[in-house]
Amino acid sequence: MADRDTTKAPTAGALALADVEPVPGVPKPDPILVVDKVKRSFGGLTAVNVDHLELQRGAITSLIGPNGAGKTTFFNLMTGFDRPDTGTWHFDGHDLANVSAYKVARYGMVRTFQLTKALTRLSVMENMKLGATGQRGERILASLIPGIWKAQEAEIEERAEELLVRFKMDHMRDELGGELSGGQRKLLEMARALMVEPSMVMLDEPMAGVNPALTQSLLEHVKDLPSFDMTVLFVEHDMDVVMDISDWVVVMAQGRIIAEGPPAAVAANEEVIDAYIGKGHGDESRFTPTPLAGAPVSAAVEEVAPPSADEGAEDLADGGADLDGPAEGAGPADEQPGGRA
Ligand SMILES: Nc1ncnc2c1ncn2[C@@H]1O[C@H](COP(=O)(O)OP(=O)(O)OP(=O)(O)O)[C@@H](O)[C@H]1O
Ligand SMILES: [Mg+2]
Repeated sequence: MADRDTTKAPTAGALALADVEPVPGVPKPDPILVVDKVKRSFGGLTAVNVDHLELQRGAITSLIGPNGAGKTTFFNLMTGFDRPDTGTWHFDGHDLANVSAYKVARYGMVRTFQLTKALTRLSVMENMKLGATGQRGERILASLIPGIWKAQEAEIEERAEELLVRFKMDHMRDELGGELSGGQRKLLEMARALMVEPSMVMLDEPMAGVNPALTQSLLEHVKDLPSFDMTVLFVEHDMDVVMDISDWVVVMAQGRIIAEGPPAAVAANEEVIDAYIGKGHGDESRFTPTPLAGAPVSAAVEEVAPPSADEGAEDLADGGADLDGPAEGAGPADEQPGGRA
């Protein structure tokens, strides 16, 4: 990880993708996730309409797109927190259509939420142990009752401890989730997702609302995941972060994949610039293809699209896990069941 930053040597993921043509739907040399004709509508709105998408194993792929593009809905669909109208997808050879979120996690694909789901009245260590249940509320009580998990308990605790050390949170093991800062909860959520030893981690805006000091640390942990044989799909609005971290970038707009390719190629893509700026919107200087330093895309995006839908589907699917009340950031905006009106 440190090597990569100082030498800027290409990552294994970037090398594997070096000869892949930057066109939407292009096959990858060794795809871990293959998506076909996945469509999800809410009333008259097509939130996700992915014709074909492959994600390269071992790479860090960023999924970017304006607010409301369908990124979170796509995560919900892939991980069994929502069902598409049509379509199929295969993860590591498993057909995941109609597979529950719990089983998807068992197959090795886990996700984090745009709104953190750390349980505020449980300790950091307890939160970690719950991660071992595979992201599902219904097993939580069982896992907390002494005896039921005796055989696995030691193993789970050891893995939790290992991850807390890796994430430099071991000194906080007895603190309550509710006592952590927003950034620390994001770290905890990522660490917890790793409890099931996933082969793919899907991170939905893990940096959002995190203070700059912790952002760097979160980023380093994400960059580090491929060295643990993990594939990463990463939603992020800050283009500096996207450019820094990604082996490959997939761009979604109005539910469709409109572009994909290495970060620099995507940043220079006219269609991508249009999707962010909006045709005829005027001020194109706000998203300049090169260099990408400067205002994060989110700053430009906020002007062309209303704020995102809430995590309605997640709250439904995750309802059993909220033993101790709403997740971080929960408030009126989090409680609209069907996204914004
Ligand atoms: N449960 C729902 N009911 C109705 N509409 C929804 C629902 N969930 C999402 N939508 C709509 O689907 C579209 C895609 O939303 P989604 O949250 O997936 O976008 P996003 O790309 O994650 O946006 P952001 O970057 O703001 O998080 C939006 O128009 C949103 O309003
Ligand atoms: Mg989202």
